[in-house]
Amino acid sequence: MKTKFVIANWKENPEDLKTAQKLVSISEKFHIAEISQNTNKNHVAITHAVPNIFVGYLIESAKKQKKKINIILQNISCYEGGSHTGEISATQAKNLGIEMSIVGHSETRLSPNNPKGDEDYQVNLKMKNLFKEGMWACLCIGEFERTDEEEENGEKMYLKFIENQLAHCLKDIDIESLKKLCIAYEPVWAIGKEAKRAATNEEIIETIGYIKKILEEKYLKEVKVLYGGSVDENNAKEILNLENVDGLLVGRASSDPVKWEKLLTNLLNDSQ
Ligand code: PGA
Repeated sequence: MKTKFVIANWKENPEDLKTAQKLVSISEKFHIAEISQNTNKNHVAITHAVPNIFVGYLIESAKKQKKKINIILQNISCYEGGSHTGEISATQAKNLGIEMSIVGHSETRLSPNNPKGDEDYQVNLKMKNLFKEGMWACLCIGEFERTDEEEENGEKMYLKFIENQLAHCLKDIDIESLKKLCIAYEPVWAIGKEAKRAATNEEIIETIGYIKKILEEKYLKEVKVLYGGSVDENNAKEILNLENVDGLLVGRASSDPVKWEKLLTNLLNDSQ
């Protein structure tokens, strides 16, 4: 039986701790539940990437209730510590018992909307800090736009873009460290409120297949690759069933209790 991973990326939501606790308690009902996938049975493991302000409360209240919940960070500092206002280091996170952080999410990367965002070399530093502490990194990669344009050698531009992103973000990281890498393929055009749609099944299969091929050829076999971008209660199960998809990174739908419960219910519903 395989484990499929669902990461709830709350972003700058919800507005209060009570709703945050409610979201976590919804997940508890489904965590490590068994799901039917095509002809197989799998487990689904749920993780929450929460705003830093909630991290301590959620960990402490789970401890008091003797419950194990998975809390990870949405981002981490590229510095190891010291005079960097507003930053959180991998060492601080590890000492609080946190095992993973997202890095390189498109909303934290340099873009016209985020002129102070990270470039690939900063994402690379963040990953090195996480691995140095023995933590996991969930690296987000994805093209800004998807067109049929090709490179001179006939390669598709968006696949080449992703290959370059991987090369820059994984630069000088040893294979042993990469055993704690997980990738989220998040096409930027399919993410967040501005998204027109989720990627189609064919687009997801093609790109995740390509990412796995590059990882196997140049880095490491068996890295988990998740899909993220406009995953909701209606498409989650179908996307999770796709060839090569090891999990989902869910944004907006994961911080609304009604949608979140519906998404997890549908995911585990055998009849769909
Ligand atoms: P979305 O975001 O599900 O709201 O499109 C996904 C993400 O940003 O991780």
